[in-house]
Amino acid sequence: MKSTFPLFPDSASTLSGDVDLLYVIWVLVSLFFTALIAGLIIFFMARYRRRHFEEVGADERAAVWLEVLWSAVPLLIMLFMCAWGMRVFFQLYRPPADAVEFTAIGKQWMWKVQHPDGQREINTLHVPVGQAIKMRLASEDVIHSFYIPAFRIKQDAVPGRYTSLWFKAEKPGVYHLFCAEYCGTEHSRMIGSVIVMEPRDYENWLAGGTAGKSMVAAGAELFAARACVTCHRATPGITQRGPKLEGVYNSQVKLADGRTVVADDNYLRESILNPTAKVVAGYDPVMPAFQGQVTEEQLAQLIAYVRSLGPEGSAATGAPGAAAPGAAATTAVNTPKTPGPAAPQK
Ligand code: CUA
Repeated sequence: MKSTFPLFPDSASTLSGDVDLLYVIWVLVSLFFTALIAGLIIFFMARYRRRHFEEVGADERAAVWLEVLWSAVPLLIMLFMCAWGMRVFFQLYRPPADAVEFTAIGKQWMWKVQHPDGQREINTLHVPVGQAIKMRLASEDVIHSFYIPAFRIKQDAVPGRYTSLWFKAEKPGVYHLFCAEYCGTEHSRMIGSVIVMEPRDYENWLAGGTAGKSMVAAGAELFAARACVTCHRATPGITQRGPKLEGVYNSQVKLADGRTVVADDNYLRESILNPTAKVVAGYDPVMPAFQGQVTEEQLAQLIAYVRSLGPEGSAATGAPGAAAPGAAATTAVNTPKTPGPAAPQK
């Protein structure tokens, strides 16, 4: 809930408590040493002040054990805090396997959100409580930063690549959504709300909306409309001009220049916008560039579709429209990301 005196943001995600604890302990450790050092300085200033005009300081040496002690103890404390901070950091940036994927696109000056089932919204984000959500972030223009203080998460949305973050909301309510990177005149007005609902309320909200097609279905339609299908169709016995895409997501892809890359979101993105950058071994660089031809939203849909293509012969290798809007798409988006079979390189 938005409090009237927001000294400290609500703690509303599964990890916000961990972040707060780390933060509070850090503050306490810092306060302790600040007080200790400042206190000792003041005490020594008084205790060892010059009492006579002619007085000369004595040549004192600290004992070795004391030197070791005051070096080793802070070092151990710092190493402990570092390890603890890293642990929380990795938790914050590694989404669990069951996370549902949403897309948020930053644009001067709004957040455009798309749910896996195709529901869209601007500057609001409705999510079910208790469900891990992975936000895939992109930007249409400049760097923005997706920031939900109550969940203790923040991640830049950078033009030309995907970034992501995740959260699992714990408490229903309405929370702030900010842009936390100065992005132009109306940066300060690039704000919105995250509305955390009980799962049933969320389903009702989805049902009441005008969801078009699911991300996957919209991607499948684009795949046909942009004629991707003519080269990338997996037809047994026919030499294809483009690599087949079934099972390609998150698999190792061998490139014409001998390198091997993982076909993750950023690779797929680049391969659509600028196909000659990383050509798959055994194929000619014949694909036209789609830079400027597809919007960020369409790109996200196309990639959602490619991601939904399991290994050949399984699941949704469907024709356009085959992936049903709604719940089915959510499952498709959630298919496990085990590395697929070896890269298409016939
Ligand atoms: Cu977008 Cu600041």
